Amino acid sequence: MNFIRISFFFLSLLPISAVLAQNETLRLTENNVEQVIEKMTLEEKVHMVLGVRGLNADEKYLNKVEGAAGQTYSIERLGIPATVLVDGPAGVRIDNKQLRVNFPVYGTAFPTASAMAATWNLSLEEEVGKAMGKETLHYGADVLLAPGLNIQRNPLTGRNFEYFSEDPLVSGKMSAALVNGIQSTGVGASIKHFAVNNIETNRHEINAVVSQRTLREIYLRGFEIAIKESKPWTVMSSYNRVNGVHVTESTDLLKTILRNEWGFDGLVLTDWFSGTDWVGQVRGGSELIMPGTYQADYLIRAIKTGLLDEKQLDRNVKYVLQYVLKTPAYKSYIADFKVDNAYHSSLARKAAQESIVLLKNDKQALPIGKKKRVALFGKSSYELIPVGVGSGKVNHKDTPSVYISLLERQFIVDKETKNFYSNYIKDIYQKNDQKSQFKLSFSSEPKLDYDLIKKNVSKNDIAVITLGRNAGEGKDRSVNEFFELSPIEREIIKNVSDIYHAVGKKVVVVLNVGSPIETASWRDMPDAILMAWQTGQEAGDALVDILSGSTNPSGKIAVTFPINYKDVPSSDSFPGEPKKKPLNAYYNEGIYVGYRYYDTFEIPVSYEFGHGLSYSTFDYSNISINSNKFNEKMEISVTVKNTGKFAGKESVQLYVSAPQSILEKPNKELKDFAKTQLLKPGQSETLNFLLNEKDLASFYTSKSQWIADAGEYKIMIGASSKKIMLQKNFFLEKPIVVETVNDVLYPNGIIREISKKNPIVKYPIKN
Ligand code: BGC
Repeated sequence: MNFIRISFFFLSLLPISAVLAQNETLRLTENNVEQVIEKMTLEEKVHMVLGVRGLNADEKYLNKVEGAAGQTYSIERLGIPATVLVDGPAGVRIDNKQLRVNFPVYGTAFPTASAMAATWNLSLEEEVGKAMGKETLHYGADVLLAPGLNIQRNPLTGRNFEYFSEDPLVSGKMSAALVNGIQSTGVGASIKHFAVNNIETNRHEINAVVSQRTLREIYLRGFEIAIKESKPWTVMSSYNRVNGVHVTESTDLLKTILRNEWGFDGLVLTDWFSGTDWVGQVRGGSELIMPGTYQADYLIRAIKTGLLDEKQLDRNVKYVLQYVLKTPAYKSYIADFKVDNAYHSSLARKAAQESIVLLKNDKQALPIGKKKRVALFGKSSYELIPVGVGSGKVNHKDTPSVYISLLERQFIVDKETKNFYSNYIKDIYQKNDQKSQFKLSFSSEPKLDYDLIKKNVSKNDIAVITLGRNAGEGKDRSVNEFFELSPIEREIIKNVSDIYHAVGKKVVVVLNVGSPIETASWRDMPDAILMAWQTGQEAGDALVDILSGSTNPSGKIAVTFPINYKDVPSSDSFPGEPKKKPLNAYYNEGIYVGYRYYDTFEIPVSYEFGHGLSYSTFDYSNISINSNKFNEKMEISVTVKNTGKFAGKESVQLYVSAPQSILEKPNKELKDFAKTQLLKPGQSETLNFLLNEKDLASFYTSKSQWIADAGEYKIMIGASSKKIMLQKNFFLEKPIVVETVNDVLYPNGIIREISKKNPIVKYPIKN
């Protein structure tokens, strides 16, 4: 009896003492997240779901990494460290001065996303991701706020350079490759800006009114691919509203679709300073509100007064802690600032080379060969724009200009032309009291004297004209100042072409722009045109590699170059209504974005999606498919042979034309792509492609289902969306319901969607 009593006594005591002992030493581990939350005060929990920006003055919350975009809250008592989030999509953006080391620190500036998409090279993108991840880790951060994968819906969008393409497959695949690379190094990625963030004008308030089908097939599809193929640690929600609801508060987007349908198990964070309904954000599924901390008092009061259920807060804290557990900070990693800069520079150069697109090359104007005499026109020839502005910028080492790169490769560059531009640049710098590349990149092109061109033509073998454009977040660009050439730019191309052609010499135009501009009105004048994007810190050297011919271009545009701005399907509705401070943007073009529109409605374009030339030529043959009846998947292979004189790579695109049913479909859609290795002249490679059920399916709004219709499908193997090299048909005997999803995100306004059958489709407003 006594024994039993004593045992009971001990048994009842033991757990209490164990708990007491644990309380004193309770530190966050994978197994005690809920217990840790229980031990937090309300204030601590609220701070846990906010960044620490407002607390930075307190020594305890000082920035761990100078120039980082944000940091999370720490609670030493519970073993919860602060974690650091840095921008951005083209490379790590932190200050060059880091207090913990006495040497300058540089992030490597890689080509921007629009340029990387033009490589069509997923393994290269993954390699770039790995390098970015290593810099993130070794410079002391935990998450890289990249990639941005919004659809390039309109050429005027300020952030186009940060985004990959007009096509969701390219955007999703490229993002997955980058995320896989970044996360292989032990840090996290943050895919952004989820979702439908295609307009920078009034970006915090603009409401994208989009049909459910368009959302599913175009604007959400890339995110879905990226989530499923790379499991990013975090997703950054966007500033805008979608169909009436701020994304930061949208349970439909952040919970129903992201978590329930796609299986996302990471952390959702807001974009910086998003919205004002913080209770709505906590409820909606914004688990971490960045950059904090001004919302703290409000949230505490909301809980104390019963406006917000504490359980909602606990849910979000749990996601934050689960994220913290994965971080280098939690694993006590100490930044050592040791990065293989030489390798990262060479990788940035390789990526830049592969992204440059040869749009035109008449009579083999390019390559120009070695040691030629070059006249360089355009201010950007002397100061390249390596990346855009805003959070997508990188504080990298100096970018050698085309001018410097040419000199270093023993080209002779016309001095008088150079002096003309140097004086102009000096003048801009003096006016701004500093070496302001920013001001220069937004300044107009200086007027070039006709006689100066004429006087020097005999001394030069070739003319290269570089035209630059800059852009960035918070502002969309204008047709006059961005999309179209200025009268001076037009005059330079015309005069230089006239004068050089008169004596039988060639002219090359280089576009140092993050996204398409107007080319149709002047493209006949020069002999060659290169789309050189903004390819990061190695832009100059990579460009000279292509110009000289030491590298064969293999880039292809992943966005269409329209003839006129008016041809862009969203041109009438962009940025939105009312025009001055738009509140609603009606996505009237529906699924017909980019080539889906131009191709289906037979609108001529200047350069089509997927276009890009090479110094070599390629032959496509032997298309084979595993069966002419579709059964769960379809395997396709194609042989590509280099039939030219230069070693080169070829990007091959697989388009599918699905049978039209009661649901109309674009003429063709990209469903897979691949790139050859470097093929020597005469060498061949067989490329493999795969189609699965979802690749055949379209979204039926009335049923909320992805359905692959029965009928005949056409596979088109293209060198571009217009250059279809091989074709093969197959049948799907019975329709397949690939997936049934939630009937959410109903449009809150009337969209007049373009349609082949009915020119106007009205969506009723749901009460
Ligand atoms: C941008 C984000 C960026 C964040 C942090 C915001 O203005 O929209 O893309 O990651 O700032 O710098």
